[in-house]
Amino acid sequence: MQVVHTIKEVRETVKEWRKEGLSVALVPTMGYLHEGHLSLMKAAKAGNDKVVVSVFVNPTQFGPNEDFESYPRDLDRDASLCENVGVDLVFNPEPSEMYHDDFSSFVDMNTLTGNLCGKTRPIHFRGVCTVVSKLFHIVKPDRAYFGQKDAQQLLVIKHMVEDLNEDIEIVGCPIVREEDGLAKSSRNTYLSPEERQAALVLSKAVFAGEKLVKEGEKDANKVLSEMRAIIESEPLAKIDYVQMVSQKNIEDVEVIDGPVLCAMAVYIGKTRLIDNFMI
Ligand code: PAF
Repeated sequence: MQVVHTIKEVRETVKEWRKEGLSVALVPTMGYLHEGHLSLMKAAKAGNDKVVVSVFVNPTQFGPNEDFESYPRDLDRDASLCENVGVDLVFNPEPSEMYHDDFSSFVDMNTLTGNLCGKTRPIHFRGVCTVVSKLFHIVKPDRAYFGQKDAQQLLVIKHMVEDLNEDIEIVGCPIVREEDGLAKSSRNTYLSPEERQAALVLSKAVFAGEKLVKEGEKDANKVLSEMRAIIESEPLAKIDYVQMVSQKNIEDVEVIDGPVLCAMAVYIGKTRLIDNFMI
């Protein structure tokens, strides 16, 4: 496995693979890898000849008061985890490699990004779409793999690829959880032992909501009230949002009569965690 830092090196390697007629997958990450990321890499490995993993904490998707500086980083650890699951190339650029001094072109979206995480993180999806689009131009993969934990991101990227006629298959992979239910996230490392315990209210609420919908509940507000009550029973938890939206346009629904995304963002102490179910 190679670890490279420049766009030129990625392009040269991928060009050689293409000459041999090999298929190429991309798994975009911000590093500090966990089982969730590794499941994407394993799926990518199973469906493609070569796998590229990008490890890049993308500055344009963080707001001014967010955790860009403190976001955990450990390239050596990430590289060895990638190697263990058979990744072929790790791309770890410096911010200056991705964004030159007079960088001024962004990929933005008029729909899908104003609700859920987009409400409190107004520039987030512009940054995500821009960097993912740049990575697509650099790697030119056949397929790209994203986790369903970031469900809004997955729906936004699928939409972007359709809008921009990118010839890339977007593959969504299921949420990977700790044994006690907590969705795996690089941000779980911010939690104290007490907060780690408190964070279980997210998955408890997700499981309870999902059960209600599976049993036939059609009233979104009833499901959301039950979920909010579970979260509010935990003193360390503060709800940012708990919402039921259509998977098509990410607008709130009152009646569950089509594919929905039930998503939440909850602060546990200072750490903002997300979780969801799609049904
Ligand atoms: O999901 C993430 O880790 C990031 O948003 C992504 C897709 C790697 C873009 O920076």
